[in-house]
Amino acid sequence: MKKLLSLLLVSVLLLGTTSAFAAQKVGVSMPTKSLQRWNEDGEYLKAQFEAGGYEVELQYAGDNDVPTQVAQLETMLLNGCTVLVITAIESTALGNVLAQAKEAGVKVICHDRIIMDTPAVDYYATFDNFQVGEIQGQYVVDTLGLAEGKGPFNIEFHAGDPGDNNATYFFNGAMSKVKQYLDNGQLVCVSGQTTFDQVATPSWKTETAQARMDDIIASFYADGKPLDVVLCSNDSTAQGATNALVAAGFKPGENFPIVTGQDCDIASVKNILKGTQSMSIFKDTRILAARTVEIVNSVLAGKEVEVNAVVNNNVFDVPTFYCTPLFADINNYQQLLIESGYYTAEQLAN
Ligand code: GAL
Repeated sequence: MKKLLSLLLVSVLLLGTTSAFAAQKVGVSMPTKSLQRWNEDGEYLKAQFEAGGYEVELQYAGDNDVPTQVAQLETMLLNGCTVLVITAIESTALGNVLAQAKEAGVKVICHDRIIMDTPAVDYYATFDNFQVGEIQGQYVVDTLGLAEGKGPFNIEFHAGDPGDNNATYFFNGAMSKVKQYLDNGQLVCVSGQTTFDQVATPSWKTETAQARMDDIIASFYADGKPLDVVLCSNDSTAQGATNALVAAGFKPGENFPIVTGQDCDIASVKNILKGTQSMSIFKDTRILAARTVEIVNSVLAGKEVEVNAVVNNNVFDVPTFYCTPLFADINNYQQLLIESGYYTAEQLAN
């Protein structure tokens, strides 16, 4: 009996040691390399998971290619990943592969973008996306003095990818601040394009936003009508708007409109310094990566996961951690982006 007990003890101890040393494999699935943002998220996730002793399989789904993302996730499952961290291209396209993951007991964390219409996700880490839009909208209200009754001002909109659930949050958040002024005529959208479907930018492509801005300028502002605001949901669309505005001869400090953005992409921060973009939103991807890693650590250790919100994905309330998005412009970029070590001054030099 004594022998049996000590044998048991030894095997328990051995098992303990082995599992402590067997690295868990995490599959990290990012949408595209063509946007600065996802290169950062991918690199920070990889580095932070590896620092925590995990093995990492990091994949980019071509340039926002849904079948590639599905195939890469299937390969990650075959390769023995026990956790999947996913930034989905199309929020409703991953149901089947995630059902396989769930069946295999694999944990799924939505990173930045929620995955809709599936029970097979466990947690969601993101920034407060509605708040991102609110900050952009409030900036327009404050800069133009709309609450003081100023106007009318002309405004145009560029929103994000219809397949990305975040895009409607950004748009609705911004609209929650500016809609009353569209309704009372202090803001006038000369193109008349004010619904999400009319102003969406498939795949968040700069060229697509630029082509639409070219058209709008040619059709509605060619007679020299002032354009006061271009409310863009993120930096890739803002860069498209800016390119079109510069090409059409709008001049910073003279008649250049307010252009909003999000992500603090290097190209957009440079535009802020040149006066061809007005503001951006800083989403510190180091903090989001750390949060996702923290969630995975807790899940695998069977500990309680720290969350501060829920987001419904049409199936259930997904436990969520919201990080805080921060306003960025020419007045605070130094402290926010350089002193925090996010960028070097050289990276931002025009
Ligand atoms: C969103 C993300 C934004 C922006 C955009 C384009 O989902 O939250 O930060 O990068 O995608 O990739």
